[in-house]
Amino acid sequence: MSRFKVTKAVIPVAGLGTRFLPATKAMPKEMLPLIDKPVIQYVVEEAVTAGLEDVLMVTGRNKNALENHFDRVAELEHNLEQKGDTDRLAKVMASTDLANIHYVRQGDPKGLGHAVLRAKAHIAEHSFALLLGDDVIDARDPLLSKMLEVHESTGENVVALMEVDPTQIHLYGCAVIDGDAKDGVVRITGLVEKPKNDEAPSNLAVIGRYVLRPEIFDILEDTKPGRGGEIQLTDALMAAAQNPDRAGGVLGVIFKGRRYDTGDKLDFIKATLRLGVDREDIGQDLRAWLHEFNNEI
Ligand code: G1P
Repeated sequence: MSRFKVTKAVIPVAGLGTRFLPATKAMPKEMLPLIDKPVIQYVVEEAVTAGLEDVLMVTGRNKNALENHFDRVAELEHNLEQKGDTDRLAKVMASTDLANIHYVRQGDPKGLGHAVLRAKAHIAEHSFALLLGDDVIDARDPLLSKMLEVHESTGENVVALMEVDPTQIHLYGCAVIDGDAKDGVVRITGLVEKPKNDEAPSNLAVIGRYVLRPEIFDILEDTKPGRGGEIQLTDALMAAAQNPDRAGGVLGVIFKGRRYDTGDKLDFIKATLRLGVDREDIGQDLRAWLHEFNNEI
């Protein structure tokens, strides 16, 4: 097996979901449904589709519903079995059988870099993929498999980048790149976490997909709190980009497909509609209604 073959995914899900209050008062934001599946299931499915069946979730308080969603519900299964409702039974079992899911608690919420550090014992000395639970990448526009290929062939850290409107760059990690893209891959020489729009070095935003070498843990241990007083993964990646001998450099895969920030209310509605119009069960009716509705507004 190549040294850089990836088999494990890490998904941090300890965030409080304040942008969706009060819906997220007693329920994790990752359990909000896009049509009929919670957001987190799309993210786990993405990891599994890319061949990563070992998934570690870094959780926090209030996240029991997440663990329950990926566990068996014997009573419900039994009930559906008795009724011969095989369709619904398959839907219930799908999330249970999807992946080998492990959990670790974050404890103090000290930032994304801190959450990633909690994965150190589980990941040990292997490269791993990191998927942020807020970002849903449309399964029709694969991204992670390409990032894994780039990592395996180069041994470098890989992050997903997307061009955003310059007025939005303050919401993201922002990349400085060197040279032009080759096959959609660029060399990253610098990174800034959430710069002011007028100080941003580019409009290339880091979106929530990373393939990282295990040396990133050592760098994170040395990373001082940055923006917002939190330990920032972006700062650790900046250190890797500046000192490639320590942990490999950083490459960016530029994504041009459909990505939804499900932590944002408007994007959440857009995601529901984009996924809905192509669904076999409701797509046709939804399209017809959208045309009608468009005349009303
Ligand atoms: C995190 C990262 C940021 C990245 C973003 C992508 O920020 O810190 O660099 O651009 O995810 O969604 P958050 O959105 O968790 O504040």
